[in-house]
Amino acid sequence: MNAHDSERIKGLLEELGLGEAPSADEADVVVFNTCTIREKPDTKLAAHLAEAAARKREDPARVIAVGGCYAEAQRERIFELYPQVDVAFGPGSITHLGEWLGAGGVGVARGRFGLDERAFAAELPPHRERRFQAWVQVSMGCNSVCSYCIVPSVRGREKSRRLGDIVGEVGRLAREGVREVTLLGQNVNSYGRDLGTDFATLLRACDAVDGIERIRFTSPHPKDFRPPVIAAIAECEAVCEHVHLPLQSGSSRILKAMRRTYTRERYLALVERLRSAIPDLALGTDIIVGFPGETEEDFRATLEVVEEVGYDSAFTFVYSPRAGTEAASLPDQIPHGTKIERMERLVELTQRVAQARNAERVGRTEEVLVEGPSRSDPALLRGRTRRNTTVNFVGDAAPGELVPVRIESATSTTLRGTQHALVAA
Ligand code: 5AD
Ligand code: SF4
Repeated sequence: MNAHDSERIKGLLEELGLGEAPSADEADVVVFNTCTIREKPDTKLAAHLAEAAARKREDPARVIAVGGCYAEAQRERIFELYPQVDVAFGPGSITHLGEWLGAGGVGVARGRFGLDERAFAAELPPHRERRFQAWVQVSMGCNSVCSYCIVPSVRGREKSRRLGDIVGEVGRLAREGVREVTLLGQNVNSYGRDLGTDFATLLRACDAVDGIERIRFTSPHPKDFRPPVIAAIAECEAVCEHVHLPLQSGSSRILKAMRRTYTRERYLALVERLRSAIPDLALGTDIIVGFPGETEEDFRATLEVVEEVGYDSAFTFVYSPRAGTEAASLPDQIPHGTKIERMERLVELTQRVAQARNAERVGRTEEVLVEGPSRSDPALLRGRTRRNTTVNFVGDAAPGELVPVRIESATSTTLRGTQHALVAA
């Protein structure tokens, strides 16, 4: 969602006549789009702001703006904490950035703003990094109350975008040459309840748009994975065989304390239903280690679920207490050393499991959407399978093309292969 918002911020700045500077050093206006989901991004921002302050001392006309979730979380204190900041704005206020930056010569407004005037960043002109792939926002905010999570307090309650607006945007993107869209929401599959529609209807409507070859979505909540959504994924040709299904913990006791509203058994039953409806499904997940009160037994339950599900990919996080969230004031916070030790064991397992899943692809032919040259070896091309695995391959194709690639080897995160027409004839 932040990547999407950043593209909209860039698009808006371009509309104001501001172009991208070759480096932050040379920029007249620096806009930071921040995250605050864990402590690390807060720390990184502090370092970036110190550098920006040094440049501003040399040239006081430079403008520093801070937007996004950290700005919203610190709205009462941001100008006090960082006096070098000229403009600050929350994730729902991006549409106002132009006014605050003094578009039309009114001068930069030092200001604050309210969540109550939230607007969809999706309504702004985008600056897309790739011609053939696009993010499409379907909702903003979140109505869940996961006890560790700061998102609901900074992005507000869930509000769905009108179905016609979303499908209209997907149609425009297709006409501009976009082939893959990723539908975005804090909880995508609860989409539409406030509008009398649902996520399954949205998936089917997007699938019907001519020219869109691939539809992805992130992130769904396991509690909202209803049968019509599973049927839509199974039946819509463009919807990819990949579901990112955040587990967070494999212990029902911890899931309860997290207020995730599902148990380990219900999660596993959902995985069963998804796998039996969608052949060849790839599953990704998010896992938090070291949630308050997590015992060795709870942690082992997480390892068991990872092994049992066999995730194709996993994002793993050390629990980070966020001010104002319920979990931050729970007793039994886990010592740092224990968190790190569990994290290492978890990463070792998720990599082993993913490696085994990827190894199963060797010998098969996968449809790859070409993204550009490989990052590790510019002689190779890079792209993604429908199952969302990166492939580095010997080939001859342009970014945006869909090509068949025969898979020859695998690591835990990438595949390697040769484009079909180039396989020895
Ligand atoms: N500490 C660690 N990880 C967190 N996440 C959300 N909040 C926290 C936190 N306080 C993780 C969850 C979520 C992902 C986007 O970030 O796993 O799914
Ligand atoms: Fe945070 Fe839970 Fe909402 Fe995801 S579903 S954004 S983890 S509160």
